[in-house]
Amino acid sequence: MNEISEKIGVIGAGAMGSGIAQVAAQQGHQVILSDTSQGALDVSRTKLKKVLARLVEKGKISPEKSDSISSNISYTLSMSDFKECAFVIEAIVERLDVKKVVFKELETIVSTETILATNTSSLSVASIAAACEHSERVIGVHFFNPAPLMPLVEIVPSVQTSKAVLQKSIELVSSWKKTTVLAKDTPGFIVNRVARPFYGEALRIYEEGIADFATIDWAMKEMGGFRMGPFELMDFIGNDINYAVTESVFTSFYFDPRYKPSFTQKRHSEAGWLGRKSGRGYYDYSEDAQPKLASQDKDLGQQILWRVLVMLINEAADALFWNIASAEDIDLAMTKGVNYPKGLLQWADDIGIDLCVEEMDRLYDLYHEDRYRCSPLLRRKKSEGSAFFS
Ligand code: NAI
Repeated sequence: MNEISEKIGVIGAGAMGSGIAQVAAQQGHQVILSDTSQGALDVSRTKLKKVLARLVEKGKISPEKSDSISSNISYTLSMSDFKECAFVIEAIVERLDVKKVVFKELETIVSTETILATNTSSLSVASIAAACEHSERVIGVHFFNPAPLMPLVEIVPSVQTSKAVLQKSIELVSSWKKTTVLAKDTPGFIVNRVARPFYGEALRIYEEGIADFATIDWAMKEMGGFRMGPFELMDFIGNDINYAVTESVFTSFYFDPRYKPSFTQKRHSEAGWLGRKSGRGYYDYSEDAQPKLASQDKDLGQQILWRVLVMLINEAADALFWNIASAEDIDLAMTKGVNYPKGLLQWADDIGIDLCVEEMDRLYDLYHEDRYRCSPLLRRKKSEGSAFFS
């Protein structure tokens, strides 16, 4: 890339924009971080100071490095400062109308060479790109929260994105020591699509009265090796946020019952039981709270894990069936983006694809709901006697 490539623009100084600015600044880029709110810029600057001080304290970076990261970022209320940026990443509020206005304006400021990226997690990249005259320069670059710590970035070209823009974006983000995966511009990309059953099937198991929150979490952690149980994780993410993602994926998939949101989560959200941030979610986070005890019935635990895991595997297989990403990238996305103990397609190979198909068919026979339809690819693999890898 030429010399202006050293300058990176980030729009939106919230959680994601601040994190992305830090990542680029750590790699030695000059970063311009913009926001319409001076308050947001001030908070972002103060937070970065604290994060860097902690890193110095822990011996992870030198005081000189901390100074250079800080001085690499400049804060502004005006997008006109993006004039010399080779790459601009937008991380503002998740609203198509607002993003479109920003992209349209941005195009009048930057050079014709500048790549315009969006960090959207639920909107179509094509619809954002359509706001630009040169829509071929627009691409999705989806970081995970917190951006400085999470290694995965989903790279999402839209139907309009040029090959050169895709290539340059992959090169740049990879040079920031991130693992990139390539995802089709479809709802939820890879991670937010494939992960849906982790929450949805766990909620359904609870709603059917099969087990309580603590037992389901225990089964997924103890027997499945997941770092957090689904209810702990939903409490961590926030029930309002997690519910909104599910609803958006459900709506965007033309109401496919596989992604149907849960009343339990909706009611928790409506009650203000959002999780850790509100002090109460599926669990009570107050100081004198009594811990919820799991039943620790091994047979029940196995049954819970098996049902959720096979639904996840089915979702991963279906994402591959629809060419959302390669098998390698689907597995990489789930291990690096949400810390799954193993890639789901590798897991299917290890368990045996025939057993996965049998479980999907058992669930379908039991409920006669489209939610439990087996992916055609899983069924094809079974009949061919083939695996996803090797
Ligand atoms: P946030 O609410 O923390 O920050 C958004 C910032 O954008 C605010 O500081 C706001 O003042 C600013 N803003 C709003 N309109 C603006 C405009 N027209 N021009 C300039 N600045 C404007 O939001 P967050 O969580 O950082 O999300 C930002 C984007 O990243 C969204 O598209 C979201 O879907 C996506 N995302 C969020 C993740 C998360 O876990 N929070 C993960 C991955 C993607």
